[in-house]
Amino acid sequence: MRTVEVPLGQRSYQIKIAPKLLPRLGVECRRLKLGARCAIITDSTVGPLYAKNALASLKEAGFDPALITVPAGETAKSIRNVERCYDQLAKHRLERKSFIVALGGGVVGDLAGFVAATYLRGIPFVQVPTTLLAQVDSSVGGKTGVNLKAGKNLVGAFHQPRLVLCDLDILRSLPQREFRAGLAEVIKYGIIYDTSLFARLERALPRLLRKQPAVLGSVIARCCEIKADVVGQDETESGLRAILNFGHTIGHALEAISSYGKYLHGEAISIGQVAAAKLSNALTGLPEADTKRITQLFKRAGLPTAVTLTAVQRKALFGAMRLDKKVSAGEVKFVLAQRIGKVVWGQRVPESEIVGVLTADGRR
Ligand code: NAD
Ligand code: GLY
Repeated sequence: MRTVEVPLGQRSYQIKIAPKLLPRLGVECRRLKLGARCAIITDSTVGPLYAKNALASLKEAGFDPALITVPAGETAKSIRNVERCYDQLAKHRLERKSFIVALGGGVVGDLAGFVAATYLRGIPFVQVPTTLLAQVDSSVGGKTGVNLKAGKNLVGAFHQPRLVLCDLDILRSLPQREFRAGLAEVIKYGIIYDTSLFARLERALPRLLRKQPAVLGSVIARCCEIKADVVGQDETESGLRAILNFGHTIGHALEAISSYGKYLHGEAISIGQVAAAKLSNALTGLPEADTKRITQLFKRAGLPTAVTLTAVQRKALFGAMRLDKKVSAGEVKFVLAQRIGKVVWGQRVPESEIVGVLTADGRR
């Protein structure tokens, strides 16, 4: 088993990465010395696959779990579902020492984390991420929240989990499109922080796409190490943590204007990262060769790298970007790369440059 520490003083926790971890959920929760009552929050796809095992493991370790199931998909990240979860927690009489288990992808993790952050002014929670994206990114670092019609993740809280369990076996049932979407966040870590991870991904991509356990385990662990390192230095995003948003300004806006339906999160940020790489080439000196390597890797991973927008859609995209949380004093700020492995944040980018880089051939 690989273990990564997230160093946050009293709120430090471990990320455990290995096959066959779900059956150990109860034993692992026992070690955290939490109350007996708990609730698993999952979605309508993951629940039927894994909730039975999770419930059995918790019961065997002496816990009294309830099961709360929300619909699968991005639209479940809503205030309405938050309220539904609160009602279920109250019905099951969860107390301050009770805890929530988030069993699912980033949607369930963000929703359940936000419910845990706010119910009774905050109760503990454990992340059991079931998508690649959630294992390498969303389950770590304590960002929780839900969407509004106006934009993604506009309501939320920082609330760190007490433990993250990444069971590699669970990824076997993940549809390949979702797995590829997770690779967009994996590639991001190479671009923002680790040249050798990027080069390794270029070599190991075919094995990764086959979900070969040894490669998968070590790549997930490296991504978690990078995230833990960044979050350990800047938990609430006053500076450095912004680098994790590489490609997300355009990506989130694309998701918002397509009503969270057309693109998976990973697909939208793939387009966003390729656009950010092209902007970096123009504005922060990212070499042409690095820009090509970045575009190529996303393409090889089977991810979209460009989008065609009508004038109306373009206007909506800029409107959505201005609503992004990363806007400061009305200005959209970008994370841009200087080379693969090194980025700078807080960069101003003229709107005319953005239009140019979104299409495949750079037409304005
Ligand atoms: P998701 O949670 O919607 O999961 C994708 C789909 O796969 C869902 O339909 C789900 O039911 C299904 N699924 C999940 N695990 C499965 C499995 N093992 N087998 C079969 N099907 C499975 O999407 P996601 O990509 O995991 O997460 C995207 C969300 O994460 C977005 O809302 C995004 O904003 C958020 N996010 C949050 C952070 C953060 O720091 N909090 C970081 C990145 C992304
Ligand atoms: N996924 C961005 C962050 O955790 O900060």
